[in-house]
Amino acid sequence: SGSDINTQVVVLGSGPGGYTAAFRAADLGKQVVLIERYATLGGVCLNVGCIPSKALLHTAKVITEAEESSHHGVKFGAPQVDLEQLRNWKANDVVGKLTGGLAAMAKQRNVTVVQGVGKFTSANQIAVTAADGKVTTVGFENAIIAAGSQATKFPGVDADERIMDSTGALALADVPKRMLVIGGGIIGLEMGTVYDALGTKVSVVEFTDGLVQGCDRDLVRPLQKRMEKRFEAIMLNTKVAKMEPKADGIHVSFEGVNGNEDAPKGVEVYDRVLVSIGRRPNGKNIGAENAGVAVDDYGFINVDKQMRTNVPHIFAIGDIVGQPMLAHKATHEAKVAAEVIAGEKVEFVASVIPSVAYTDPEVAWVGVTETEAKAKGIAIEKASFPWAASGRALSIARTEGATKLIFDKESHRLIGAGIVGVNAGELLAEAVLAIEMGADAHDLGLTIHAHPTLSETVCFAAEMKEGTITDLY
Ligand code: FAD
Ligand code: NAI
Repeated sequence: SGSDINTQVVVLGSGPGGYTAAFRAADLGKQVVLIERYATLGGVCLNVGCIPSKALLHTAKVITEAEESSHHGVKFGAPQVDLEQLRNWKANDVVGKLTGGLAAMAKQRNVTVVQGVGKFTSANQIAVTAADGKVTTVGFENAIIAAGSQATKFPGVDADERIMDSTGALALADVPKRMLVIGGGIIGLEMGTVYDALGTKVSVVEFTDGLVQGCDRDLVRPLQKRMEKRFEAIMLNTKVAKMEPKADGIHVSFEGVNGNEDAPKGVEVYDRVLVSIGRRPNGKNIGAENAGVAVDDYGFINVDKQMRTNVPHIFAIGDIVGQPMLAHKATHEAKVAAEVIAGEKVEFVASVIPSVAYTDPEVAWVGVTETEAKAKGIAIEKASFPWAASGRALSIARTEGATKLIFDKESHRLIGAGIVGVNAGELLAEAVLAIEMGADAHDLGLTIHAHPTLSETVCFAAEMKEGTITDLY
């Protein structure tokens, strides 16, 4: 049909959404072409997102744990950080292993990878332009758009390599003496945690009245308290009024918002600035209009529960279809799209999608939050268990945590949960499963949890809802 390659399914973008969709479609017997502009597969998550950030957060945790051991009688010297070795470990032993694994898996499945920037030329063809300018056209029966998102830029400032987005921060060019993080969301706080541990004086400036918007305030408080102790400053209700790169650093002045009069008055100078003020979908950069696929003003593509766009044979998944912009949402949507294309009658039906900030302590939440219940008038019962009463939390010297469960008042079923504390992200999985299974407090309380574990706090919180706990220690 006039294309260089013809295929049954083309997938645009090889992030968690794209590679999962491509592999699932191939496993279901489809002929698949996967288009990716970069040399390695894996998208933001594997190359410059979830995975490298977790590698560096691990290093941060080792450093802070060693520092804090001095409180219970074990002293280490100041860490000697070999930045090059740390960068190589992250790039080769962590990211490289995974992206290499993806390439092998694509080969195994006969998924054809075409490298270059893809743009729709019609509703049945994508043109892929390689770095050397060579164009390959791919004709398709079905397409899955998985082109992801990119960091939002800070407006009106000259480009300067000291003003970074998350990719720059993960590159770890140096350990700056003083760094400003603009945006107190998950990226800013995770990367702030890394640089703080490495020895940088970190300041965070956040436009709204709190860090990690979307999560209940009682769960954010222990994190904020710890960060206030370790970081140079956390400026809430504050915005950057002016930012200017100069020879001696990035000059920044601030302005209070929402009536805040405590914002710094003068000019502050930082060695580096991390801009982490959200991510924008790539919907406007893929020639969607040539295929008739509707893209909204922000760049999102609307889909139905089968991940279908307004053009019935073209699907979209992942960050490009909307919030939450999370890898595990993308992979689930990917399977749905591939299965629908293969003729299966499936829909995206997950009742909840968990969120985790891998800070120290971690903050994890899922389903209905207390704030949301109040705002929407949902009748709930809550139970919160303070980790100060957990033997395991005491024995790891991290008692600031809390486990909160939210039940529907009528059905008594679990409809939401939030955990702050060490390993909260891992601990949340039990609550996610409980919600999907329609479990109530009884079910959680009667389930035998190994002692002493942090996972017991889920059981204890459920028992608190039922009455009292007698088996605590
Ligand atoms: P992406 O991963 O963005 O992949 C899209 C791919 O498409 C990219 O490889 C891109 O190069 C390619 N592409 C785009 N346009 C074209 C084109 N025209 N032609 C060819 N190729 C194209 N999420 C979590 O769940 N947990 C985490 O811990 C986590 N940590 C994160 C940390 C950071 C620093 C960042 C930035 C993000 C993090 N995220 C995390 C979010 C997560 O990375 C995204 O939700 C996820 O990668 C989205 O997957 P996707 O498949 O939709 O798109
Ligand atoms: P975000 O949307 O989570 O947070 C951005 C923060 O910046 C918000 O609190 C916002 O109020 C604030 N802000 C916006 N403009 C500002 C300004 N001009 N000045 C000061 N503050 C400003 O965005 P972030 O952290 O960039 O991350 C983007 C997305 O990437 C996340 O929403 C998430 O979907 C994904 N991600 C997920 C991770 C995880 O699951 N652990 C880790 C990192 C990213």
